[in-house]
Amino acid sequence: MRKQIVAGNWKMNNDLPETQLLIDALKAKKQTSTAEVMVAPTFTNLYQVFEAFKTYAVEVIAQNMHFAENGAYTGEISAKMLKSIGIETVILGHSERRAYFNETDELLAKKVDAALANDMRIIFCFGEELADRKSNNHEAVVESQIKKALFHLDAAAFKNIVLAYEPVWAIGTGETASPEQAQDMHAFIRKTLANQYGDDVANSVSILYGGSVKPNNAKEIFSKPDVDGGLIGGAALNADDFFDIVNAF
Ligand code: PGA
Repeated sequence: MRKQIVAGNWKMNNDLPETQLLIDALKAKKQTSTAEVMVAPTFTNLYQVFEAFKTYAVEVIAQNMHFAENGAYTGEISAKMLKSIGIETVILGHSERRAYFNETDELLAKKVDAALANDMRIIFCFGEELADRKSNNHEAVVESQIKKALFHLDAAAFKNIVLAYEPVWAIGTGETASPEQAQDMHAFIRKTLANQYGDDVANSVSILYGGSVKPNNAKEIFSKPDVDGGLIGGAALNADDFFDIVNAF
């Protein structure tokens, strides 16, 4: 059975007191599904949130990391630093990192290696832009992103990798991929994995959908056979909405 996962990406939102309010609101919610729940606060609040959820079934994860263990990389955070405060999972390759911070597939391959070398789990994000979809190039773009960042790995590495398909045109726009578009792409991703690593790997990797998942569309998206959960941005900042999505399974 593949893991079902709902991860909230808080992005660069919430200062310390606002984060405490969100923690308190989330703690008051009741989970009725069996999905794994994760939240990714900003770096300055990571330890606070980690401590707050220590005895809860909410994993606290990082939004990004650098590939080096330490050194002269002003403003960066390493896997070793994350691990030392208890963080076991990191989001890599988010489209905002790719678009605004020039993260390339080649750089992401180095980050992937660093995370795995530190025994971290990765939520690896990728997805096409609107122009790619309009020109019917979306599968080729996604295939290339996955191959360049991940296909140097051996099959065993995929135990620690979760994939997140996030069409750029659906992130923060209120426009979601239709459940059918998500399913078609997730099936294509699984086929791409199967061609390289075989069916066992392909069928064991969780593939999340991200891009304007909300309480009113989560159930239908999650009902698709190759959609194993969601990476949630805007709706993860509201405890009611987030848990409605968690409980949509
Ligand atoms: P959104 O963000 O839910 O606000 O569209 C998704 C994401 O960036 O992971």
